[in-house]
Formats: sequence, structure tokens, C-alpha cells
Amino acid sequence: MTQDMGTSYGPELLIRLREGDAGSGRRVQLESRLRELVRDGTLAAGTRLPSSRALAGDLEVSRRLVVEAYAQLLAEGYLVSRSGAGTYVAATAGAPAPATSKPPGRTLRFDFFPGAPDLGSFPRSLWLHTMREVLASTPPSIFAYPDARGTRELRGSLTTYLRRVRGVVVEPDSIVVCSGATQGLALLGRALARRGVGAIAVEDPSLPPHRAVLAYAGLEVRGVAVDEEGVDVSAINAPVVLTTPAHQCPTGVVLSPGRRAALVDWARAGGLVIEDDYDAEFRYDRAPLGAIQGLAPDRVVYLGTASKTLAPGLRLGWLVLPASLVDAVVEAKLLDDLGSPTLEQLVLARLLDTAAYDRHLRKARRRNGDRRDALIAAVARHLPGASVGGISAGLHALVRLPRAVNAQRLLERAAEHSVGVYPLSLHAIDPPRHTDALVLGYAGLSEPAIEEGIRRLVDVLDHLPEEVSHGQ
Ligand SMILES: Cc1ncc(COP(=O)(O)O)c(C=O)c1O
Repeated sequence: MTQDMGTSYGPELLIRLREGDAGSGRRVQLESRLRELVRDGTLAAGTRLPSSRALAGDLEVSRRLVVEAYAQLLAEGYLVSRSGAGTYVAATAGAPAPATSKPPGRTLRFDFFPGAPDLGSFPRSLWLHTMREVLASTPPSIFAYPDARGTRELRGSLTTYLRRVRGVVVEPDSIVVCSGATQGLALLGRALARRGVGAIAVEDPSLPPHRAVLAYAGLEVRGVAVDEEGVDVSAINAPVVLTTPAHQCPTGVVLSPGRRAALVDWARAGGLVIEDDYDAEFRYDRAPLGAIQGLAPDRVVYLGTASKTLAPGLRLGWLVLPASLVDAVVEAKLLDDLGSPTLEQLVLARLLDTAAYDRHLRKARRRNGDRRDALIAAVARHLPGASVGGISAGLHALVRLPRAVNAQRLLERAAEHSVGVYPLSLHAIDPPRHTDALVLGYAGLSEPAIEEGIRRLVDVLDHLPEEVSHGQ
């Protein structure tokens, strides 16, 4: 068996740790080298890693250091452990960002990608018209290096908007505009790590790229279970938690009133909450719920984005920060890129100030609501025994299948039929091979395409062989 060459417990690995670093520096080196080997395919999915004892012996480091490095990569989804049988490269590890990035070069006609709105409905002429106005009316100084916090105009417009629509407690000076919510997380992660925060709790399941961003910033990422009430607040096991209360990503669960209260209590008792409010503008048949940030503004960082309301390609997001974190995050932003592009910020500010953004949202909400209904109807028609959850908000739903299936095989077979599906298991911290639920985005497909996509999916499911689940 080639996989067992080298040490008797797994493959020989070309890893050389720099001398002179202290223990944690060496652990970080080991983690990033292992990540590289998995990402570039040198360590293929299913490969068994050397035992921690064997690798520690090879590298002449403590076994604890290797155990900690493995634990971190388990949390990030690169590795899986099978009890009593060692540590393996995860089946999905070669594609570390399944929920927000798509395999290049493959166009799927019926792609239920959950990470984007309808790109064809981007308000091009509104954007063009507004950009013309901006260019015609602003002084040359807009072409200078920007304010790292974001333009005064956008921070002002966001202040009014977030107070009005999300109940956020905010001043222009507490906002930092960033390149999407993802950069916001990276900046925060770095700022927190520099302050000595060692670990962050994240929802399990959640977005793998977000976990990777936080780990890259130097934080230990720890999973917290999500159930039908949302994240289990009593199980938060770190000083900071990243959560998606309005529409849990990816299950779609709305944090229950009891859990909201518990989360606010947890924050007021000294915890720090990062509230990722990524798709809250799309709410269909439930009463509006304000952001948690409004209840504990000193203990909650609010994270927002234009990726769902307009387009992810804009790379526009924003952080609303407690005063104690503003300077550290601005410094991280400054050192990262000196600030976000000015023109797009000025356009968005104008859209927010006029009713144009609200009009655009109303239209998008209606369209997305119709598509959501089309998904529910198509599943009911074609997939008896399945249920659709997470539908009260957002741009994606969770479809529970009548039986568990092999996630990778389903992905491949569906793609052969030009259908893109996103197994829930891919979002789990320790991804099982099997899945009994799919995260399906509906915003990017017309109603007839949703119907046809589900019909094809059912065809694929009908022909997937029954498998014995290995208890996962
Ligand atoms: C949970 C979650 N947060 C945030 C975002 C948006 O990230 P960004 O603003 O970096 O595009 C997404 C997009 O898919 C998401 O699913």
C-alpha cells in the first residue's frame, strides 16, 4: 500500500520546520504546511496521516504539538478522524470553499448555488447612472488614497440605513467598510489574535471559508452545535463566537427568542459576539427581528455585506464595532490594503440615501420569494418524503432527503446532469461522507429552471445506489 510508505503509520511527509521558532510558531508552521499539502492534492482525500507519535518523532517535536496541529485541521475540515483508526485527509478537503466558490470551468445550467443573488438582475442601469452622477459631481480628491475606515459618505448612509432597517446601534465612527464580510472577519480575527484571544467558537455547520479565514488569522476554531433553535449558546467554548442569528448559514434556522436572550446574556457577561447578518434583508413570512447588536452594542460586532442584496463581485461589506475594537480593526485594514475602493462606496451611499436601494430590495425580495415558493412546490411535487426548511428568510433553503446518500457521488452525478447541489455535510467541521440534506440556493434560478433542476435531481437520486452508512 503506497499510502503506508514511510513510517509504519502513514506516509512520509516532506515537512521541514524552521529552527528557532517557539512551540506555537512551529505548530502554526506545521498546520500551514499540512494545509498546503492537502490543498495542492499532494495528500489526496482519504490518505491516512502518520500517527501523531510517528510524525512528532520524524520532526523532533513534542507529540502535543502535532496533536494540536491535527486538531486545528480537523476543526477546519481538512482532516477527519475515524475513532480508533487514525486521522485521514477529508473527502472534501481538496475543495475547501464549497459553499462560496464553484469548481472552475464548469457551467451548470441548474445551479442551486447558495452563495449569490440573481446576478442577471444586478441593477446595471441604476448603478451606471449613479456612477455617472458620482463622477460628474465629486472633486479630484476622490481619486486620492482613501480613508481606511471607508468614505465618510458611505459610513453616514450606512448609519441611517442600519438604524432604520436592522435596529443597529451605530455611529459613522463605529463603521469600517471592508472588502466583503470575509475581509471583515479576517481583520477582526487578526485584531483579536494580536490582543491575545486564542480561540473562537463557530457554528457547526457553518461556512468552511470563514473557518479557514479565522484560522489563518491565528485563532483556534472550535465548533458549537446548531439545532432547530439555532446555535447552542450554552455550549460556546471560547471567548468569542461567530454566529448567523437571522438565518443560520447553512441550515436556515432562525435563532429562537430564548437563545437570543441567552446569547445577549452571554455577551453581557463578557463574551464577544460576531453577528454575521449576511442575508437578513430577505425575510418572507415572519415578523422582522432586529439585529442582536442592538441589544448589546458594546459586546457585539455587526457584520454586513452587499453580496446578497447587490452582488458578491462588488466586494463591499461593513463592520459595526464596539469602540474598544475600532482602532485595532482600522489598523488591520490599513495594513491590509490602505482602504476599499472609493467610487463603489460613493455609488452605494447614493443608492442608500435615495429610495433606490429600498426599491431594488423590494423588487428582489418579491422575486426571491416567488423562487422560494417554486422550490417548495417542486420538492413537494417531485420528492415525496423530503422536507424543506430554513425558508422564512434568506436566499437558500435546506432540503432534507428521504435517505442519506454519498455526498461526493451525489455532487458528481448531479453535475453530469448539469445540476449544482451543495450537501449540508460539506459545511460540517468534521465532514461525514454521507449527507441527508442539501443546501439549495434558489435566488439565481428562474421558476421553470427550479422545477427542471429538482426534476433532474430526483432522477439522479433515484439512480444513486443504496449505501451502508458507516455511522456518519
Ligand atoms: C454566512 C455568510 N456570511 C457572509 C457572506 C458574504 O460574504 P462576502 O461579503 O465576503 O461576500 C456569505 C456569502 O455567501 C455567507 O454565506
